[in-house]
Amino acid sequence: MPIPESSRAEVAQLRQELNEHNHLYYVLDAPVITDQAYDRLLRRLQQLETEYPELVSADSPTQRVGSEPASHFETVAHEVPMLSLDNAFDDEELLAFDRRLRDRLERDSALDYCAEPKLDGLAISLLYEAGDLVRAATRGDGRSGENITANARTIASIPLRLLGRNPPRRLEVRGEVYMDLEGFDALNRSQREAGGKVFANPRNAAAGSLRLLDSRITASRPLTFCSYGTGLCEGVELPGSQFRQMQYLRDIGIPVSRQIELLDSIEDCLDYHQRILERRDSLPFDIDGVVFKLDNTQWQREAGFVSRAPRWAIAYKFPAQEVMTRLLDVDFQVGRTGALTPVARLEPVAVGGVMVSNATLHNMDEIERKDVRIGDVVIVRRAGDVIPEVVAPVLQQREGRLKRPRMPARCPVCDSEVLQQPGQAAYRCVGGLVCAAQRKEAIKHYASRKALDIEGLGDKLVEQMVEQGMIDSIADLYHLSLEQLSGLERMAEKSARNLLDALEQSKQTTLARFIFALGIREVGEATAEALAGYFGNIEAVMDADEEALQQVEDVGPVVAGNIRHFFDQENNRDIVEKILLQGVNWPQQDATQQQQVQTLEGKTYVITGTLEGLSRDQAARLLKACGARVSGSVSAKTTAVISGDKPGSKVARAEELGVEILDQAGFERLLGDRE
Ligand code: IVH
Repeated sequence: MPIPESSRAEVAQLRQELNEHNHLYYVLDAPVITDQAYDRLLRRLQQLETEYPELVSADSPTQRVGSEPASHFETVAHEVPMLSLDNAFDDEELLAFDRRLRDRLERDSALDYCAEPKLDGLAISLLYEAGDLVRAATRGDGRSGENITANARTIASIPLRLLGRNPPRRLEVRGEVYMDLEGFDALNRSQREAGGKVFANPRNAAAGSLRLLDSRITASRPLTFCSYGTGLCEGVELPGSQFRQMQYLRDIGIPVSRQIELLDSIEDCLDYHQRILERRDSLPFDIDGVVFKLDNTQWQREAGFVSRAPRWAIAYKFPAQEVMTRLLDVDFQVGRTGALTPVARLEPVAVGGVMVSNATLHNMDEIERKDVRIGDVVIVRRAGDVIPEVVAPVLQQREGRLKRPRMPARCPVCDSEVLQQPGQAAYRCVGGLVCAAQRKEAIKHYASRKALDIEGLGDKLVEQMVEQGMIDSIADLYHLSLEQLSGLERMAEKSARNLLDALEQSKQTTLARFIFALGIREVGEATAEALAGYFGNIEAVMDADEEALQQVEDVGPVVAGNIRHFFDQENNRDIVEKILLQGVNWPQQDATQQQQVQTLEGKTYVITGTLEGLSRDQAARLLKACGARVSGSVSAKTTAVISGDKPGSKVARAEELGVEILDQAGFERLLGDRE
């Protein structure tokens, strides 16, 4: 069947659009459509290509899924060798590099440098011919590497075709393939679940993923590419500035570092090094330093090379993020949900410029898998904002028989039993709120930024308050007095006052934050948000059965069970009730309730006596949800007194003032009317 012209045109149009969106996303970091909209375009293209297989082309955005496994990698000779870099470890060494370079070039004035972070991945070369990606190779020994074209083609940030109408005849783009920290964590998590290989760091994960013979597996790995230079170049005159060359690459669709800068002296390079070092922990990927390259490419050629490194470029390294130290002991920390986490006590050591003496060992399965023993020399890694972790023991340095860490049979904090739930890696203390550690953690969590965000209520303070018996649960927070607080260590009256204010302020919150703050096992922010959106009020969440809970997005049987279990504890229900009585509240969410807000706005009610089927507090909340004020005493301004069974003197007072009195039926009508 002939291919309709309209389909041919649509395919071309879709490819162009998808390529443009790729460029916007990966190179310019400025996507203009959502991921879903992108997927829709991609699916439409796939559909057309399935219908008309003759239209499939190697550079189609659909061709990133990998292909049949290869038996080995072919060798590729690099026509222009891939060099390595000299290192500087302090300011003096960097200044000496600049002096040497100026001497050689016989220049007195300051040199311009192109600066960018040194990504911690592995170097590759991409060859484009007439705009098409025709070959990708690893650096290898610099003279020849391995042909990894099939794998490179699966990396979404590597363009299969360059942008622009006049692509160079041949252009070799060089850069680093790496894995960002989020992708690395996700990969290790799924590898662990599947019982597969767990990688020690993102660099190893990137190297391992790129060198797989089955490119279909590479396609599933979160690899990224960022270019830092060119090699072979034919049929185009590249700019004579390193920085402008990189801008040219960006223009033709190649990702380039977002942190790239053109600096006009070595002093500015010192400053750049400092600035990037300060940002290191907040970058989403590992870097091990910054690289400075002489900007003028004519002068680069004049400066030349020594052995295998250019004289015109240098890496100013950062402190290592992986170091060795001795594991002195393993303690067990009790978390909010009672889970016992093994914590490594280390001989103090600087990691990435920060002193570290504790690191996580995750759980017992991890300890076993890594075969870590007390007394081992271990590799400790600290990257990004995360807690340092023990990566592995250094087996060559193990001497004699060393003890394996063991999970205690009883909780180190409250001496309750420690049990392992069937099918779960975690061991838990069964003490619940009897356990001071769990109480402390629950309170810290409630006060944390993403929960009720109580400023000034730090971890140390919570620990002191629990240890001194001032608070037992989150509900007690709202009973704290100025005297009590001022009596605490390192607590001036001013800070005590501020904390009371912060507690008061925290009462205005959102339902989602409140649900999250309760610290129900496996109910994170997103789940809390979904629960709040679905149920609209806390009572409904508290009373929902597991089936109803599972109607909420992302809530499966386990989480539903956790929520049910939490609210089945009388103690937890009590705590929620007490907190609400203290005035913690949130705006109502759904449209009908928005409507209610208006209906009773400006009105004031007093509730007295016992209402059937709901507490005074619940009644008050219903009224407040409609915008009403609820007061404790009757005045001429009171709109009505709601009088249940056995009312007190308030009814008499209302009669005296001529204020309307509503009985249960009247109250129900009032609430009914607003709907
Ligand atoms: S330039 C002629 N720039 O570091 C200069 N390398 O230690 C050749 N690397 O093999 C390299 N980020 O794998 C350069 N911005 C950057 C880099 C970078 C990471 C890696 C690359 C290279 C190694 C040299």
